[in-house]
Amino acid sequence: MSAFARSDGVLYAEGVSLAAIAERFGTPCWVYSRHALEAALDEFQGELAGTDALVCYAVKANSNLAVLDVLARRGAGFDIVSGGELKRVLAAGADPRRIVFSGVGKSAGEMGLALRAGILCFNVESAAELDRLDAVAGELGKVAPVSLRVNPDVDARTHPYVSTGLKENKFGVAYEDALPLYRRAARLANLRVSGIDCHIGSQLLDAAPFVEALEKILLLIDRLATEGIALEHIDLGGGLGIRYRDEAPPAVRDYLQPLLAQLRGRKLRVILEPGRRLVGNAGVLLTRVEYLKPGDAKSFAIVDAAMNDLARPALYGSWHEIVPVVPRQGPVRPWEIVGPVCESGDFLGRGRELALAAGDLLAIMSAGAYSMSMSSNYNSRPRAAEVLVDGEHAHLVRRRETVEELYALEERLPCA
Ligand code: LLP
Repeated sequence: MSAFARSDGVLYAEGVSLAAIAERFGTPCWVYSRHALEAALDEFQGELAGTDALVCYAVKANSNLAVLDVLARRGAGFDIVSGGELKRVLAAGADPRRIVFSGVGKSAGEMGLALRAGILCFNVESAAELDRLDAVAGELGKVAPVSLRVNPDVDARTHPYVSTGLKENKFGVAYEDALPLYRRAARLANLRVSGIDCHIGSQLLDAAPFVEALEKILLLIDRLATEGIALEHIDLGGGLGIRYRDEAPPAVRDYLQPLLAQLRGRKLRVILEPGRRLVGNAGVLLTRVEYLKPGDAKSFAIVDAAMNDLARPALYGSWHEIVPVVPRQGPVRPWEIVGPVCESGDFLGRGRELALAAGDLLAIMSAGAYSMSMSSNYNSRPRAAEVLVDGEHAHLVRRRETVEELYALEERLPCA
């Protein structure tokens, strides 16, 4: 059962009506379902039962402390990409030994933070990063556990902005360079080679590229073994897609079973870094129609959420379903659902067939991933509140920002 369903026509998050949430917390407002978060994680963990595996949630998808807390309590580890995300997951009570650190541009400061915290592994993406990590670990008298993120040159067949496993992408170590780099890593005094990592892209709708990537990685693992470099774990990254509209992404089982079959008989711990699949369909963005502006060429419904809140439609041309919280009778027409931001790219949905009146509440669906976490304060718009629903209870898990907070760090020039 979806966590967002209708009762007497009104859209609910679990046991709480979205109309009641809008009334209590205002709009725009993010609403997450605890049940949906847990169910998504359980699906992975159910498939992995009996396997030595760790699901490291990719924090960048949604980094609210309450979301992290719900997932941590259920046994998730975390995949982080910055010192900021490290501090967040630690603040949410995460176990450092369940944290992997990805990303192409780790600063020395971020490495130091993670080494002091005692994380599980650094996913290293270049020769230069390997040297820096060795140096930082040496200064701190620590040994850094490392994986190389290998770029398998596999086409993820997804949006070019979120495809990462091709040669032309900035990510990872080129496949041909991996072997010499592992040899070098094995010689560096302050590093301990621990695993291998690969992440080929996001919103994948087909399991085949994952299998193809794993085949290549396994060849490399075997080659390393012949040289006496034995790995403890393999990190398969994230990337499993969700349904936004009519996509048919693989079931978690159909994604994982072929990969686990390929890994059978090997003594390798499996790490996964799913982001979107855990949180994407566990959240919606609630917004209210401010004005209707019907026109000859286009009719605009101007709502109180905007591209600063949800950037995905403007940035990638992404499609999010938009539905009324309380459906109304009346003529249906195609509406451009747009925000108040001063850009023509500020749209949340185009040509949506809806019956609308000013004041109506809309829910923008599948907004749990890469939505609030990518929001900004453009046009000096305070970021929206976040609410986590747990059964019959709605908890405010991030209050709405105030405008004063937006410029609190700024100063005027001294008097002439
Ligand atoms: N691991 C690494 C190293 C990653 O770079 C990512 C996502 C993930 C795991 C999680 O991937 P997921 O399971 O969520 O697909 N802003 C874009 C998505 C960017 C994905 C970046 N990396 C969007 O809104 O579609």
